Amino acid sequence: ELSPIDKAKFAAARCAVDFVEDGMKVGLGTGSTAAWMVRCLAERVREEGLRITGVPTSTRTGTLARQLGLTVTTLDEAKWLDLTIDGADEFDGELNLIKGGGAALLQEKIVATASDRMIVIADAAKEVAQLGAFPLPVEVVRFGWQTTQRLIEEVLVSMDVLGRQTALRQSGEAPLITDEGHFIIDLHLNRIENPRALWLALNQIPGVVENGLFVDICDQVVIGGTDGRVEIRD
Ligand code: A5P
Repeated sequence: ELSPIDKAKFAAARCAVDFVEDGMKVGLGTGSTAAWMVRCLAERVREEGLRITGVPTSTRTGTLARQLGLTVTTLDEAKWLDLTIDGADEFDGELNLIKGGGAALLQEKIVATASDRMIVIADAAKEVAQLGAFPLPVEVVRFGWQTTQRLIEEVLVSMDVLGRQTALRQSGEAPLITDEGHFIIDLHLNRIENPRALWLALNQIPGVVENGLFVDICDQVVIGGTDGRVEIRD
């Protein structure tokens, strides 16, 4: 028996997987909701004999997909994708997202951007009026990261962002290192008034590789309820 939250995640994942068609190249997101999607997709492939090629957005997702028998390749091999299905940490009414709670935001953004369509799957608790309660992850190169952190803080001051706490993400005792070999600095902002402006300003800083704001990338959100019902937003 699934917990209510897993029921919601499963419902969203199961619904989104119905958008996958035979022959498609599909971006496979990262996180607990995306893991449900990978399981549902593997089941459809098994039962219906669909020919699907998956492009994982993290080593974690790649391992899971292979274990479940999905055909997996790299983005460079696939070149362009029909569809990416991924989770999110927050989404707003304009389908802007915060992603990267699972530290995979860089590959997730590259893969979603290289897709005709991105569908986000989420439980209803991820919907917010304004982004920012969830800490915004920023992926930075390790070289000079403390200088980069200071420059990030200056951007927050210049943009009048409410919260300005920043923290290097840890993994146990040591700094977390992403799949691409970088650090993550989490920004505790409370509220983001202008996601587009902040996304662009952060990415102007030399040591910043990417940030977790997804603006104009997501096409649809499939929202799962704890009662197993789904709602599609676009
Ligand atoms: C991974 O880096 C994130 O962008 C995930 O998509 C996000 O953290 C959602 O994860 P859950 O589905 O586990 O909440």
